[in-house]
Amino acid sequence: MTEELSFLQNVPIFADLQEPELKKIAKLGIRKKYKKGNIVVLEQEMGAALFVIVSGKVKIVRTDEDGREVILSIFGPGEFFGEMSLLDGLARSASVVALTKSELFMIHRRDFLKLLHEHPQVAISLLGELTMRLRKADSQIKSLSLKDAAGRVANVILMLADDIGVFRKGKVEIDELPLQQDMANMAGTSRETVSRMLHQFIKEGYLQLQGNKLVINDYEEFRKRHL
Ligand code: CMP
Repeated sequence: MTEELSFLQNVPIFADLQEPELKKIAKLGIRKKYKKGNIVVLEQEMGAALFVIVSGKVKIVRTDEDGREVILSIFGPGEFFGEMSLLDGLARSASVVALTKSELFMIHRRDFLKLLHEHPQVAISLLGELTMRLRKADSQIKSLSLKDAAGRVANVILMLADDIGVFRKGKVEIDELPLQQDMANMAGTSRETVSRMLHQFIKEGYLQLQGNKLVINDYEEFRKRHL
């Protein structure tokens, strides 16, 4: 229970709750383990639970009829997903796949909705997070509609930095850069263009590529130049 409590205390949407409430949530939820590549949530299925990430990383993806996929976001510890179908009663809006071995804390729909009724501060925190996600989606739409290939690839790099980057003294390290084909689907371009743009940004001094690790040398400068 203490382990569950210290985990829940560090989940941003539960940050305003006191210990007795967190203890109740700890009892409501169950932990589930997933291997890398396991599907947690399938697009178009009906949703019955909300998930909070205890450890590991997941990707939110949409696929087309040919099985091609686009990554919408990547989430890590303390972040949640699966709220959309619980709130609007419709099918899952996207699939969620474990990018690494992951442990998730699952809360059933009924319990989650009751929690929102009983603790408006959780609902307000949830709205804050959903607003941030909408802002991000807005900048993706802008980038895909109005930017050239360089701008779209830069936007994907900035998105990955925000999702999975480690910020340190103005630099950002993205440890496991997704495949160039995945980045191409996110940027609405080809794998070759992603490769060309990465090399251009490296030549211009904005980025370094060390194996599978991408380093943004000056995050603010790169952001200013490309957003
Ligand atoms: P739900 O529709 O229940 O199941 C899939 C989940 O993916 C969804 O809830 C959200 O939690 C998450 N999701 C869907 N679209 C996005 C997006 N554009 N950005 C971040 N998360 C998303």
